[in-house]
Amino acid sequence: MHTARVVSGMRPTGKLHLGHYHGVLANWLELQRNYRCFFFAADWHSLTTEYADTSGIKESTREMVLDWLAFGIDPQKSVIFEQSLVPQHAELNLILAMITPVSWLERNPTYKEMRENLTTKDLSTFGFLGYPVLMAADIILYKSTKVPVGHDQLPHLEITREIARRFNYLYGEVFPEPEALLTEMPKVLGTDGRKMSKSYGNAIFLSETAEETRKKVMSMVTDVQRPRRADPGEPDRCVAYSLNRTYIPAEKRAEIETACRGAQLGCVDCKKIQAEYLVETLAPFRAKREELAADPSLVTDLLTEGSRKASEEAARNMQEVRAALKL
Ligand code: TRP
Repeated sequence: MHTARVVSGMRPTGKLHLGHYHGVLANWLELQRNYRCFFFAADWHSLTTEYADTSGIKESTREMVLDWLAFGIDPQKSVIFEQSLVPQHAELNLILAMITPVSWLERNPTYKEMRENLTTKDLSTFGFLGYPVLMAADIILYKSTKVPVGHDQLPHLEITREIARRFNYLYGEVFPEPEALLTEMPKVLGTDGRKMSKSYGNAIFLSETAEETRKKVMSMVTDVQRPRRADPGEPDRCVAYSLNRTYIPAEKRAEIETACRGAQLGCVDCKKIQAEYLVETLAPFRAKREELAADPSLVTDLLTEGSRKASEEAARNMQEVRAALKL
């Protein structure tokens, strides 16, 4: 076990899909094996965009955490908690807000992009501008040294580092400067060939039924340059295959590819095979999830306990912060 500490959060957006699995969860599982990890539901971060209707956040948190647990995020190994149950995040956020120049936040590319794209919501709030300050608080509150993030979050992590540096410069060395653990996000395609995303309606959810998954795979586009069954196909152009190949064992893949290129195997039959491998891979996790979901208080209890552990750590570090500020 390394001494490095990992902190990572996900905004609760509800049920996770295969894109989340390959993009984030698989990586968390790997980190959990090697580091002390803090994984949390960033429900206050959800408020930055969902403040006008908060009704879905609690349920989304539960669904998300059930997916984490079913896929192997383990409360025995990692601290799993809910941001809003650890008030020190807000306390540190307030202090960091005092030392963060507004210009750092205004030039944040994610901020500009989201303000332009999310036109259905009024994002001209103090809280939305301050998103990266809260994220900095999340990270340095645990003195974490490593933060697994995708490319989209890099600007936020850069701001975190700048804030930590500024704090240390003003008040003395308290926080390590966290490093990004950049994860190569495989581009997971959704059923329509675009990037898998809940908002595109093209996602295969971790917790859906086998029947739903089969239906979605069967609806997927294949190789558009193979209009007829008798035409030879190209697996590298096939949208369905791009999603499903990772679930198929290597020998079987070789067999499928040869049969596709030789026009011996049609797309409908091929997708039936692909769907079965995907469904079979997901089956044990789905069974586990169902078992966990049957207990209505499991997630609440677990988050309460995890948040208590996180608070202990946070409280110790906040004492140092208060001392450094001479308050
Ligand atoms: N901003 C992250 C996202 O949208 C979520 C997040 C909040 C986070 N706080 C964090 C990620 C701290 C890593 C560390 O995905």
